[in-house]
Amino acid sequence: MSSTISHRPGSGSEDADALSELAATVEQRLRSTDRLILDLDEELAVLAGLQEFPLGRFLLRNQGLNGYWTSYIFRYEPGTPTESDTEFWLLNRSLLSGARERYHRFRAEIARSITDGAVLASVPCGVMDDLVRQDYGDAPGARLVGIDIDEESLALAVENAKSRGLGDRTDVVLADAWKLGIDSEFDLLVSNGLNMYEPDSGRLVELYRNFARALRPGGRLLLSFLTPPPPPPWEAPERAGEWERYGIAEHDLRRELALFGDIIQAKYLNFVSEADTRAQLAEAGLEVEHVGYSEGGVLPVISAVRPL
Ligand SMILES: C[S@@+](CC[C@H](N)C(=O)[O-])C[C@H]1O[C@@H](n2cnc3c(N)ncnc32)[C@H](O)[C@@H]1O
Repeated sequence: MSSTISHRPGSGSEDADALSELAATVEQRLRSTDRLILDLDEELAVLAGLQEFPLGRFLLRNQGLNGYWTSYIFRYEPGTPTESDTEFWLLNRSLLSGARERYHRFRAEIARSITDGAVLASVPCGVMDDLVRQDYGDAPGARLVGIDIDEESLALAVENAKSRGLGDRTDVVLADAWKLGIDSEFDLLVSNGLNMYEPDSGRLVELYRNFARALRPGGRLLLSFLTPPPPPPWEAPERAGEWERYGIAEHDLRRELALFGDIIQAKYLNFVSEADTRAQLAEAGLEVEHVGYSEGGVLPVISAVRPL
């Protein structure tokens, strides 16, 4: 980690009995499933590996990430040794760790929108790295707003802003992103890591309507989304080439799908095509400006404006 937040909340109690019980339930489920990605023994080894480090335990318990752990993954310096092999794999070789590239692209895109006097919002903000880890030297009047449904994340966002000397220009708001009730206040609203937990297209339009309304006319939304991956190469060898742009070896992909699919059953893997995201944003009253992908052509970030 290049820097850390001083305490680690949000993992619930680190109750060893409850974790063993959960692991036993997952093991039971794996044993009674006839279609696993890896051999049962290998799946059980991954399950055991996950219990060895706090991030793994958090994922197992929560089937997703909170602000703190998202920040932990994105701030991690690739290659830094970890105590657990599974954690090293997760932070360096998984598709999840590939999202670090998008986080940096997202921040670079935000940097271009920082102007003096601008009001910049992050929803959901988590610990608010996207807005806080920026240079405001040329924008002394810029104001930052972090909105999240999780009080612990907001407390960390405040701590984060203070540590960067931005405490006096940062406000945090405890709110549900679907019930923002904010009208025409923001010049830029950035949103990473919420839409992918929502499987329902109508609910996504609702979310984007809330964002559109919170923007000033002419204001901009910066949004990441997850596009559908190709089928696994072992199921559709004729499409195996499509995996090249993800930059992941087949054995790592198997481990990824076993870990996040079979074992954790992650809740955030709701995929939406660019065309559907464009349609949802249009329905919410936003005009798409551009969509940027990684060099390989994955992990899009879309920019849309509220018309004047
Ligand atoms: C994966 S984290 C992403 C945080 C941050 N945007 C980032 O990229 O680091 C997801 C965040 O969404 C928040 N969240 C979940 N449901 C929400 C809702 N309905 N309204 C607002 N925030 C929500 C969680 O508390 C968590 O902080």
